[in-house]
Amino acid sequence: MSHVETFILDEIEKQKSPFAPSLLSRAEKDRLVGRAFHGLYRWYLDRSQTNRTWSPDRTFNWRDIRQDHSPELMAIIEGMYAIEQFAPDYTSELTRLARTSYGRSQFQLRWGSEEAKHSDLWRNTLLFTRARTPERLEQYTADLRANSWTLPFDDPLRMILYTVVQERATQLNYLNLLKIVRGKSDRPHLTGEADPVLAHAASTIAVDEAAHFDFFLEGARLYLYYYPEETLAALVDVLRGFMMPAHALIPDYDKFVRTVYDGGVFDRRKHSRDVVQVALKGLGVESLRAIENGIARTRRVPTEDGVERDTAIFQGSVEGVDFPVVEKMVMRLFARIGGYEEEIGLSEVSPTVFVRNTWPSAA
Ligand SMILES: [Fe+2]
Ligand SMILES: [Fe+2]
Repeated sequence: MSHVETFILDEIEKQKSPFAPSLLSRAEKDRLVGRAFHGLYRWYLDRSQTNRTWSPDRTFNWRDIRQDHSPELMAIIEGMYAIEQFAPDYTSELTRLARTSYGRSQFQLRWGSEEAKHSDLWRNTLLFTRARTPERLEQYTADLRANSWTLPFDDPLRMILYTVVQERATQLNYLNLLKIVRGKSDRPHLTGEADPVLAHAASTIAVDEAAHFDFFLEGARLYLYYYPEETLAALVDVLRGFMMPAHALIPDYDKFVRTVYDGGVFDRRKHSRDVVQVALKGLGVESLRAIENGIARTRRVPTEDGVERDTAIFQGSVEGVDFPVVEKMVMRLFARIGGYEEEIGLSEVSPTVFVRNTWPSAA
């Protein structure tokens, strides 16, 4: 963390009232979430343009890539290409869904441009390894594009939670692929696949996926902090029925999944331990079971506008969620945004300011 961020965190800490201030209105929470998304998007765009610029054509030594990889490895990469090449669908659908949020929808365009390059990169891999002929690749792409991807959930909250899990799963897939192409696979049929060019490709994409996961996780935490009850209920919905995107659109998807499992790239255990648990930890959530229990014991209390609502959160405590930790992480995000705004001078014109959320007392 930079000095500026530490300084801003200290300032936020000092400004915190020891008493519970009045509840924030929904409009104010919406404003804060939107504002933070915008600030985070600015920071993300700057990082993306400064640290993660690469070209699917020029960054990799395509002439040096191996042409004798196993059909199993190439089937895994073809499946990854299939998933990534729906980038125009993902981007248009998600941008439309987030269109009323300036920061979030602008981000979706930037995110989409990065996902599109992943598709370009796997396409190049399939061509330069000579694993697929140009004709076969065209036909495969045409078959895939005959169908389009649609949103699994039609609300921005569920979709951000879905994307947190999906980005982490994707990142993990690429990290495990990286192991194979560095010659470190523990599967006998994939031990001879070391290839520096392919390793360069897999690690480049994995870095992008880590950045995507970070953005969506920060966004999900904002919702969790300002709208805890709704977010926890949505999280249960999303995790209970999670499927990777495009699973229904890829020909022979089951065969692809078996190849991926046999190759040690992904399986149920990895999904639960390295994806779901990591995402939950990032959200300050102990376990899915714990929040389900918390929701089941939720009491209905009247809110400030007299409407009866489910309110499991009293004074920042709810079963299974560490709200002080969530608050700290949200404050850290505002500090990151504040540090960036200081750097570019925006803090003098339009600073993004953290406002603490508080909950009604249990009395
Ligand atoms: Fe991707
Ligand atoms: Fe991604």
